[in-house]
Amino acid sequence: MRACEAPHAESRDDFPLPTERAAALRRRRRPALLGWDDPEHNAQRRMLIPSFTLKRAEGLRPRVQETVDRLLDAVEAQGPPAELVAAFALPVPSIVICDLLGVPYADHDFFEEQSRRLLRGPTGEDTEDALTRLEDYLGDLIDRKRRDPGDGVLDELVARGAAKDGPGRQELVELATILLVAGHETTADMISLGTYTLLRHPERLAELRADPGLVPAAVEELLRFLSIADGLLRVAREDVEVAGTVIRAGEGVVFPTSVINRDTVAYPDPDTLDWARPARHHIAFGFGIHQCLGQNLARAELEIALGTLLRRLPGLRLAVPADEVPFKPGDTIQGMLELPVTW
Ligand code: HEM
Repeated sequence: MRACEAPHAESRDDFPLPTERAAALRRRRRPALLGWDDPEHNAQRRMLIPSFTLKRAEGLRPRVQETVDRLLDAVEAQGPPAELVAAFALPVPSIVICDLLGVPYADHDFFEEQSRRLLRGPTGEDTEDALTRLEDYLGDLIDRKRRDPGDGVLDELVARGAAKDGPGRQELVELATILLVAGHETTADMISLGTYTLLRHPERLAELRADPGLVPAAVEELLRFLSIADGLLRVAREDVEVAGTVIRAGEGVVFPTSVINRDTVAYPDPDTLDWARPARHHIAFGFGIHQCLGQNLARAELEIALGTLLRRLPGLRLAVPADEVPFKPGDTIQGMLELPVTW
């Protein structure tokens, strides 16, 4: 058995979930994509692949650059200092995913808040309530798109839904929910944590400033180093022996990406940031059939956001002592609540 073929834990009702938040979600319903194995997973994924190809992500670069420039114009006009999560790290991916999906960015306060509650609760009731609100909102949006189509990815899905074997309304709502939530939170966390990490490694930062051509390699190394989506869950399909330990069919397996991405065989001296190391085969975007659908887009956003930030604000530094910068609590994606900076 290969790990990439193992059923996703979200697809098993008896998988012991580590938090009340996760249990509350399972009581409601399996999420689209992550909650399914093949053949259902494959059918959903095939609908989305054309919208998330490398070519499509490359085509979005000018628009991402424009968004990044506009946000940094405002940061410069109002600062220093600035709080970079609210002013930059969150709006960049939020605006980009709204553009791509065809969701009105004017509603961002609402869906960012519900995504936060969905991913971090704190209580199971919060999580369930956030999911209900997000689904109601996206259901209304999908109904409006049926009457008055636009040119976003959700509009393309709605058009498919009109076909005989296309997705029904509930499936469209579930797909829209995972795309909107996954499409902004994680990338925002990588921009804020990536910036914080660079500011704490002045020599690596100086290398990037001296040679901006290193930015794509730096993004890959930061993805490996930070591994913000930790603890991927799977279920063994059959008995399998790994390094002398037998995992029985039906047993759960937790893949700690932060540990796997520090495997010393693959990454000598793994706690050191090194732009020269070949980091691209990390598993920060997961592995196998559930490997991140948005990784091409995320890479484009991170390269442009981090590269432009360093170029435009050469004196960028933390505005408070490093240990006073607040990190997100919790069990899901690592990130920062605030990033106070000056320049
Ligand atoms: C740096 C940013 C990102 C990181 C670190 C990240 C990480 C991940 C990881 C680790 C998984 C696999 C989860 C599992 O196996 O349980 C995943 C899946 C997924 N990601 Fe991302 N992601 C990022 C950005 C995005 C973006 C921009 C989108 C855009 C919509 C996106 C959409 C998805 C979707 C839809 C899945 C589920 C895929 C499936 O089950 O087939 N992600 N992501």
